[in-house]
Amino acid sequence: MTKLVATIKGVYGYVPADVLSNKDLEQMVDTNDEWIRSRTGISERRILKDPSLASSDLGLEAVKGLLEKTNTDLSEIDLLICCTATPDMLFPATANLISGKLGLKDTPSFDIGAACSGFIYGLSVAKQFVENGAYKKVVLVGAEKMSSIVDYTDRSHCIIFGDGAGAVLIEATEEETGIIDILLKSDGVGSKHLHQKAGGSLNPATLETVQNKEHFIHQEGAAVFKFAVTKMAEISAQIMERNNLTPENLDWFVPHQANKRIIDAAQRRMGLPDEKVMLNIQKFGNTTSATIPLCLWEWEDKLKKGDNLVLSAFGGGFTWAAAYLKWSY
Ligand code: UT7
Repeated sequence: MTKLVATIKGVYGYVPADVLSNKDLEQMVDTNDEWIRSRTGISERRILKDPSLASSDLGLEAVKGLLEKTNTDLSEIDLLICCTATPDMLFPATANLISGKLGLKDTPSFDIGAACSGFIYGLSVAKQFVENGAYKKVVLVGAEKMSSIVDYTDRSHCIIFGDGAGAVLIEATEEETGIIDILLKSDGVGSKHLHQKAGGSLNPATLETVQNKEHFIHQEGAAVFKFAVTKMAEISAQIMERNNLTPENLDWFVPHQANKRIIDAAQRRMGLPDEKVMLNIQKFGNTTSATIPLCLWEWEDKLKKGDNLVLSAFGGGFTWAAAYLKWSY
């Protein structure tokens, strides 16, 4: 029997219309466009302004677009996975909420929490379900309303994050393409450098936690940066080596878009020219688990069947991950 390999059969992205530019941020905190661009590569990001909408609404738009584009009927979806660090609520899962809004009935859905590495962690889970024959069609969506946990009076982190969502359809193929290899890593040492202090079972919400701004992102940027630069470069090189990929036969690098300088370090380690690196950090900033599918969505027209792609990410936890894909359409 031919071995089934899970593969991406379609991708769709959604970003809210409102733009928050570096110039806008100059009016909000003590920063400037030149600093932000040279230290992060970001010029603007999208923000979901409507307070009645949340991550599930961004995810819903991405999934609806994906289903329409791939001519997939709701009845064909066997599983919906959402990766998010900004769930609408602690429970139910944002995947359950997207399922409900889509009108899915009896379809399993759950969230994956691996912060910025969430999309690659999600790919690894979807891959298992498809390759063991349990499910035929899996929808994986990364959806983030990062603006809901960003303190727009704190210049140390408000400049990098943005809102958005990206979704992929994963199915089996018998061709020589698909999600070939995945590497996942984590190290709890990272929790002290990057977390949201309150709102969970450790520090439930109180008047004090709100007054102390403990529901916003706590990020020690320089410490996270140091780890990210090393680990994302290391894991990207590792997945290349163990799959005999070289700067010549690797067609695309799809990095998590946290900071252009982190991407540059990984690109240098991999020995890749600029034209092989997907970048959209300049206009969307860091959308956490949505950065990679948003890149795939924007570059989809340029991808050819058989192209070799390396995806890699680093984020809160710490978590980091890489995937080797042979594009299938
Ligand atoms: O998504 C995955 C998880 N997150 C990441 O991967 C983010 C990793 N970290 C970063 O990308 C960077 O650390 C930041 C972009 C967040 C910050 O850049 P940095 O080059 O690490 O800056 P820093 O925190 O080391 O600060 C350097 C200087 C400081 O001034 P002094 O002490 O040297 O006078 C800061 O006060 O830059 C100052 N600074 C700013 N200046 C203007 C910090 N933020 C700003 C700002 N505008 N927004």
